[in-house]
Amino acid sequence: MNLQKNIAILGSTGSIGRSTLDVIARFPDRFRVSYLTAHRNVDLLREQIERFKPRGVVVLENCHASVLKKLVNGATEVLVGEEGLCEVATRSDVDLVVSSLVGFAGLRPTLRAIEAGKDVALANKETLVVGGEIIMNAVRKHDVRLLPVDSEHSAILQCLRGEEHHHVERLILTASGGPFRTLAKEQFHTITVADALNHPTWRMGNKITIDSATLMNKGLEVIEARWLFDLPASQIHVVIHPQSIIHSMVEFRDGSTKAQLGFPDMKIPIQYALMYPERPHAPYRRLDFSAVQQMTFSEPDLEKFECLALAFKALEMGGTATTVLNAANEVAVEKFLAGEISFSSIPRLIEAALAHYAPHHNATFDDIVRIDAETRQRSQQFAATLQDK
Ligand SMILES: NC(=O)c1ccc[n+]([C@@H]2O[C@H](COP(=O)([O-])OP(=O)(O)OC[C@H]3O[C@@H](n4cnc5c(N)ncnc54)[C@H](OP(=O)(O)O)[C@@H]3O)[C@@H](O)[C@H]2O)c1
Repeated sequence: MNLQKNIAILGSTGSIGRSTLDVIARFPDRFRVSYLTAHRNVDLLREQIERFKPRGVVVLENCHASVLKKLVNGATEVLVGEEGLCEVATRSDVDLVVSSLVGFAGLRPTLRAIEAGKDVALANKETLVVGGEIIMNAVRKHDVRLLPVDSEHSAILQCLRGEEHHHVERLILTASGGPFRTLAKEQFHTITVADALNHPTWRMGNKITIDSATLMNKGLEVIEARWLFDLPASQIHVVIHPQSIIHSMVEFRDGSTKAQLGFPDMKIPIQYALMYPERPHAPYRRLDFSAVQQMTFSEPDLEKFECLALAFKALEMGGTATTVLNAANEVAVEKFLAGEISFSSIPRLIEAALAHYAPHHNATFDDIVRIDAETRQRSQQFAATLQDK
């Protein structure tokens, strides 16, 4: 019997994509890399092609595809654009899709993969933030596994194994608090892009690193948890735990709490998602409890970290409010990274977008795409009126 799983990694050149390939390289008899994709990092994609010999790759633009075609000389199929991403996510020679694109771009290929009956290891939390209802309906309809890669959701999945859904009182997502946990809000206007990219615990792509600094990442994770574990916002709690040793917890109705702990290394939850429910041996760094000086916990400061409060608000508003939240946040983060708006303006942009749109309930996929595009356009216009460049 062939136990090898054929894997397509959407976003193989990113932080999660690279760590996924590291995990896969440890288990050559369990996995075969079928397809890899990049946005524009053609050099790294070429190295990955040489090492993993996928059947095909996808890049977003024709100019990059032409360069790659010359380099691979017919040995690897080269596809282009969102169509190419959807094509490789649905091919019959793929068993599991790793969805590790960043942002809204992940939605369509992830949905297509589910509709084609593929199991999905989901890193791209934005997929559930913008289209949670549609995605979870598709997961049920096509009877596929949607396995979280995010360390918090992986922790919750592990805590929930063997438990009854109705026994859960609440989920407790831990957050490191990011680099500005102890900085006074009055100092937020001094934060530079370099300061915000300097995350204390994790090395990640730029977008999630800024989201971690504003705590929007935790807000997106709360929304992701709402859909993955089918619980309302009132049963999802966030606690600041700067040591990032406990990755998240589940509290049960009888007062018992289960936590999942580990050295912070994304390869551990990635391997769990790829191998679920198996736990083959892997040499990742172990927690040395004698070296753990302390574990501290505190409530997040929602006045200081307004993005987290806005995410809770959007979840409460329901419908497409979280699509609006995500689109405005993506525009705000892009503009902050480009030096066009200040760190303090990120929540302003999101707040303005949420105030403008009445949430649309029972939205179709096309509604979501339209609302995303409209919010982006409006947020661009709003950003241009801000006086803080
Ligand atoms: N990094 C982490 O530790 C971590 C942990 C938990 C969850 N996540 C989630 O995982 C996802 C990926 O994060 P990351 O840190 O790996 O991001 P990243 O390092 O920025 O990588 C993103 C990947 O997507 C590609 N890409 C970017 N924009 C694209 C577009 N418009 N269309 C198609 N491909 C595109 C990039 O290609 P190029 O390299 O060519 O630009 C790259 O391969 C995010 O949703 C994030 O929230 C990440």
